[in-house]
Amino acid sequence: LGRPREHWAELGSTNDRAMAWARAGAPHGAIVTADAQTAGRGRLGRAWASESGEDLYVSAIVRPDAGKPIGALGLAVGVGLREGLAAWLPATQLKWPNDLLAGGRKLAGILCEARWVGSSPEVVVGFGVNVGRALFPGPLADTATSLRRELAAPPDRGEVLARVLPALEAALAAFFAGGFAAIRARYEPHCALRGQAVFVDMSNGAGPKEQARALGLADDGALLVEPPGGGPPRRVESGDVWLA
Ligand code: BTN
Repeated sequence: LGRPREHWAELGSTNDRAMAWARAGAPHGAIVTADAQTAGRGRLGRAWASESGEDLYVSAIVRPDAGKPIGALGLAVGVGLREGLAAWLPATQLKWPNDLLAGGRKLAGILCEARWVGSSPEVVVGFGVNVGRALFPGPLADTATSLRRELAAPPDRGEVLARVLPALEAALAAFFAGGFAAIRARYEPHCALRGQAVFVDMSNGAGPKEQARALGLADDGALLVEPPGGGPPRRVESGDVWLA
């Protein structure tokens, strides 16, 4: 991953630019980076604060083989990103599905978007890593963090990208060879939710939050939760989860 590369001082969203570039035929491995985004997007229609000029905004074009299941690809991206960042922050945790937390605060986010060309998926793997910013606006002040806030001697963006891209590539290779089951053991020890009381929204942001206890991940990447009164585990396949 990383060749060819387009770098922009400012973009709406690196994911949008990468999707357009993919449509125009950009090869597997191409990446788009920007110093700032004016319309950075997160999961579930949220915004991703992208004005700092000191953080990483990256979108990679990934072209899996035809017919490969890609449902849990975002989890594999989380594994790779975590392993890359572990050079500086080994205790970083994954909050299902694929947020990265340091000290319980969000350090990085991942947004994968796919389009099908016949039976071949064309995927844009977008991720933002808070690298250099010290201050976060408004509601993020208490919930977000950066490498600079966590480390006495933070790396610069170039160093972070140089470590993260090969780690991501390795995690994706393992995922494409064996599915999420092949990298589950690299996810679970770093799962922020395992054993914790959580609130679960089972319907992509539209439904009520239900309390449950997170048990871990299934082989296909679904989050397994124990309902409040006990009983058989339930699968959470999409939507969002909060620590209770
Ligand atoms: C999330 O946590 O909800 C996902 C955030 C993903 C943000 C990255 S920044 C680079 C890429 N371009 C975007 O517009 N979003 C992703």
